[in-house]
Amino acid sequence: MRIKYLLAVVGLVLFNPLGAAWAAEPVGAAVCVKCHDAEERPDNSKTAHGFSTDSRVPDCISCHGASDDHAKNRRQPGAKGRPLPDRNFGKTANTPAHQRTETCMTCHAKDAKRALWSGSQHDAADVACDSCHKNHDNQDKVRNRASQAEVCYTCHKEQRGQMNKASHHPVAEGKMSCSDCHNPHGSAGPKLLKRDSLNDTCYTCHAEKRGPFVHQHDPVTDNCSNCHVAHGSQNAAMLTTRTPLLCQQCHATAHPASDVGTLTGGTAALNSAGMWQGRSCLNCHTQVHGSNNPSTTLMPAQRLMR
Ligand code: HEC
Ligand code: HEC
Ligand code: HEC
Ligand code: HEC
Ligand code: HEC
Ligand code: HEC
Ligand code: HEC
Ligand code: HEC
Ligand code: HEC
Ligand code: HEC
Repeated sequence: MRIKYLLAVVGLVLFNPLGAAWAAEPVGAAVCVKCHDAEERPDNSKTAHGFSTDSRVPDCISCHGASDDHAKNRRQPGAKGRPLPDRNFGKTANTPAHQRTETCMTCHAKDAKRALWSGSQHDAADVACDSCHKNHDNQDKVRNRASQAEVCYTCHKEQRGQMNKASHHPVAEGKMSCSDCHNPHGSAGPKLLKRDSLNDTCYTCHAEKRGPFVHQHDPVTDNCSNCHVAHGSQNAAMLTTRTPLLCQQCHATAHPASDVGTLTGGTAALNSAGMWQGRSCLNCHTQVHGSNNPSTTLMPAQRLMR
């Protein structure tokens, strides 16, 4: 490293009339790479930050600060070791979270996706940009769909358990990522959901559940989480509870079994003790998300059966 630098200096002094002045006093980020050369730092040439001929791209100083005392090893009396740079990042950083974030926001505050960062759950909990992003690396795990969840799980352990339940959104399979539903940078919706409401977030992929239906089922338009756990559950179709219990939470006084027998000519949904069982409710009320049967008088339409 030093030898290369010396050779470069010698080269400049010999072949460039201004070389002597430049070489004697490197300025800006050139000061830093004297000691922190490309061999020491992980390669980030493939990231947008690594594209150094673009003047909008940050150099060492735009993130770490001029760090004069650090570069010149100018110690306070009695201090041990080299003074730290003006700003440092990562898990062991002594620079407060909000200051680290402000550094990034000098350039990134304009991005629409981060417009609601300020005061968001992560901001309020002192999670900084560098708690998720690795800038000195071509592999920013959090932006790679396949590895993103691992970064989130370092802090959100409970969600790993939910995503491993029998019925779950295919995040572990790499077909979806947390950021398909959440904007970790802040959002107008609850729980950092991407859209303004929980249902609007679900409709981005399950558009057929949006309706409008001729005969809607109120708990569906109200909130999908009345019946589903978004991450995963032990019940089929990520239901909060199995049917018929799920339905009976709200329809405690649903028609007596005898009604159904009379109306449909059968009691197939009941076991020998006369109890509702299994998918029973769904066997008849198949259109649980809403029915588009145009009839306003026929019972099956009104009762979410067809
Ligand atoms: C003369 C050599 C030298 C120069 C010039 C230099 N550094 Fe350093 N830097 C070091 C050494 C040595 C360490 C390791 C210090 C330690 O471990 O105590 C270090 C550590 C660091 C760290 C890690 C701090 C931490 O412990 O978290 C950062 C960040 C850093 N330097 C940034 C910079 C920046 C930015 C510049 C340019 C303004 C710069 N350095 C200039 C020698 C240098
Ligand atoms: C001096 C301005 C500047 C600063 C400071 C800055 N960035 Fe950037 N950053 C850019 C530009 C320009 C791009 C490329 C265009 C874009 O994506 O907006 C970029 C791109 C990125 C990307 C996408 C990378 C890619 O390869 O596509 C991430 C992630 C990022 N920045 C995070 C950060 C974080 C975290 C910080 C603070 C530690 C930070 N930036 C500080 C200017 C800056
Ligand atoms: C976009 C902001 C940004 C820029 C530009 C930047 N750094 Fe960093 N630096 C960070 C962050 C964030 C960390 C924490 C570790 C990480 O994210 O990889 C860090 C960590 C470091 C460390 C600690 C050792 C390590 O790898 O963890 C050193 C040394 C360092 N940077 C030096 C530099 C030098 C030299 C430059 C210029 C060539 C530079 N940094 C440019 C944000 C930046
Ligand atoms: C909780 C984790 C987390 C934090 C904290 C975080 N990010 Fe991100 N960031 C992500 C994820 C996940 C993506 C990928 C988004 C996607 O795939 O839609 C991303 C993408 C980005 C991108 C590139 C793509 C895009 O969305 O435009 C930039 C730039 C960026 N973040 C900047 C920042 C800045 C600046 C901060 C601090 C204010 C920050 N991030 C804080 C998780 C985080
Ligand atoms: C460094 C730790 C850390 C990382 C990494 C992290 N988070 Fe967070 N997250 C927190 C903290 C702390 C809170 C606020 C306290 C809480 O509600 O748990 C939070 C809050 C949230 C919330 C809102 C919870 C609520 O009750 O409103 C969501 C959603 C969330 N994080 C998703 C993510 C996603 C997605 C990722 C990965 C892209 C991620 N987080 C990465 C620490 C982290
Ligand atoms: C299919 C959409 C979807 C995906 C994918 C998703 N989430 Fe969520 N997440 C939600 C919804 C919806 C809620 C709110 C649940 C509620 O309030 O009933 C939520 C809530 C949360 C909360 C707050 C939990 C609480 O108890 O308040 C955290 C933290 C969180 N998610 C993290 C993650 C992480 C980490 C990932 C990726 C491993 C992820 N989410 C993937 C939709 C999703
Ligand atoms: C980014 C797209 C996306 C979003 C947003 C989304 N989902 Fe999904 N959903 C999927 C995919 C992909 C599957 C798996 C389909 C498959 O395996 O065939 C799925 C499956 C399901 C299943 C069926 C699971 C099973 O085992 O049969 C339910 C229920 C579900 N999602 C509910 C929701 C709810 C509620 C929300 C909102 C909180 C939501 N989804 C948001 C993509 C999404
Ligand atoms: C009243 C309870 C209830 C509510 C509220 C509800 N669902 Fe469902 N959902 C179910 C039941 C029960 C099943 C299983 C259906 C089956 O097995 O035939 C299901 C299955 C699903 C499936 C997988 C099978 C299919 O039909 O594609 C998806 C996707 C789904 N729901 C999405 C949603 C979305 C999105 C919302 C919110 C708009 C929502 N659900 C609200 C009860 C509900
Ligand atoms: C969170 C509460 C809730 C859950 C859970 C729920 N429902 Fe409903 N359901 C309602 C409300 C509210 C209405 C509309 C008001 C009414 O008519 O009672 C309704 C209406 C209905 C209707 C139409 C009634 C009519 O008078 O036309 C049927 C049929 C129905 N639900 C079946 C089911 C089935 C089957 C399930 C289980 C898969 C279920 N519901 C789960 C709250 C719920
Ligand atoms: C064998 C077919 C069948 C099964 C199984 C069935 N239903 Fe029904 N349900 C009907 C019929 C037919 C009606 C219309 C009765 C009427 O209008 O008098 C009805 C009406 C309803 C209504 C609206 C009228 C009322 O009495 O409040 C609700 C709510 C309802 N069912 C809920 C349920 C629930 C919850 C289950 C499971 C525990 C269930 N049903 C199982 C056929 C069935």
